[in-house]
Amino acid sequence: MTSPTPVVPRTRQWDRKLPRGKGGVQTDRKWAQTGAASASSQEPLETSVRRAGHGAGPLQGRGFQAGGGREPLVPAGPRLPRRRRRRGHEAEAEERVPRLLPGVDRRPPLRAGAARLVQKAELVRLSQTLSLVPRLHWLLVEDAEGPTPLVSGLLAASGLLFTHLAVLTPKAQRLREGEPGWVRPRGVEQRNRALDWLRSGGGAVGGEKDPPPPGTQGVVYFADDDNTYSRELFEEMRWTRGVSVWPVGLVGGLRFEGPRVQDGRVVGFHTAWEPNRPFPVDMAGFAIALSLLLAKPNARFDATAPRGHLESSLLSHLVDPKDLEPRAANCTRVLVWHTRTEKPKMKQEEQLQRQGHGSDPAVEV
Ligand SMILES: *[C@@H]1O[C@H](CO)[C@@H](O)[C@H](O)[C@H]1NC(C)=O
Repeated sequence: MTSPTPVVPRTRQWDRKLPRGKGGVQTDRKWAQTGAASASSQEPLETSVRRAGHGAGPLQGRGFQAGGGREPLVPAGPRLPRRRRRRGHEAEAEERVPRLLPGVDRRPPLRAGAARLVQKAELVRLSQTLSLVPRLHWLLVEDAEGPTPLVSGLLAASGLLFTHLAVLTPKAQRLREGEPGWVRPRGVEQRNRALDWLRSGGGAVGGEKDPPPPGTQGVVYFADDDNTYSRELFEEMRWTRGVSVWPVGLVGGLRFEGPRVQDGRVVGFHTAWEPNRPFPVDMAGFAIALSLLLAKPNARFDATAPRGHLESSLLSHLVDPKDLEPRAANCTRVLVWHTRTEKPKMKQEEQLQRQGHGSDPAVEV
């Protein structure tokens, strides 16, 4: 089987783009009772970031200077449909549209070294969803020591602007055979690897090697390979100034989990599981402005965070819950679903293999 012809963009083209739950008594957590309409969600990014208020890292301010004089990230008034905008002032509009930088993690296989059987199917599905999104940069972080031919070929054939990274989950953090998926946080090393790269950590094993230049307007979303994403979700997150949030369907033992919004502000969360987590949100339910991530170089996912607290371990460095920016019609629309791919049964395959008649291993599946 030959590998697909690489279709790597010759120039930096930011014209394509991209980006997971828990169960008990239903409770709503309230940490802000204010019913007053606030201007918070209309303030510029600089204010949102400063208000996040944690220790200023060495990079603080860098994104802001470089971005001086740029258009506000939030378009004034109703937005024109994308197509009309591009036809009118294509170049100018393209400049204004913040890029999305989805980080995608590869969940660890059940056995070290054996890629999951559904890996290619999930990546084809995801890459084709991402193909619908303008100005997207796909950061794919493989859970492997180095790039595998399957993933490299798929990325090259996708036509997307991508960066291929790889980091093997340390043995101690790996899910053991038969262990339920929720026992240990997954994809931590991989997501942190993507954050390092964005912060000029280098080490890309394929695709675009250099991180976005300072001042680049971008939004980072952590996508899993088995979720279902509406293309609309990416347009909602595109205008994130600090951290934006929205509901996630089919997660946490509920129809959906998500922020509760009053008068345009997040006032709590609809969740049934551990509602007292600082940020009871799923990985698929938030996006972060690149400038904020660069301004807070110590913000990372904590592999030792208790179950369900992985998202909080990053977000608590970045934003005060009351400053979360509600998206998806004030969090009334579900645009991402925590779907799961069933593990395929291989009984017949194993039987045939024992008889020496297994499916041709040269055919990539
Ligand atoms: C969200 O709620 C605010 C305050 O009630 C309102 O002004 C705004 O139009 C709403 N946004 C959407 C997209 O429905």
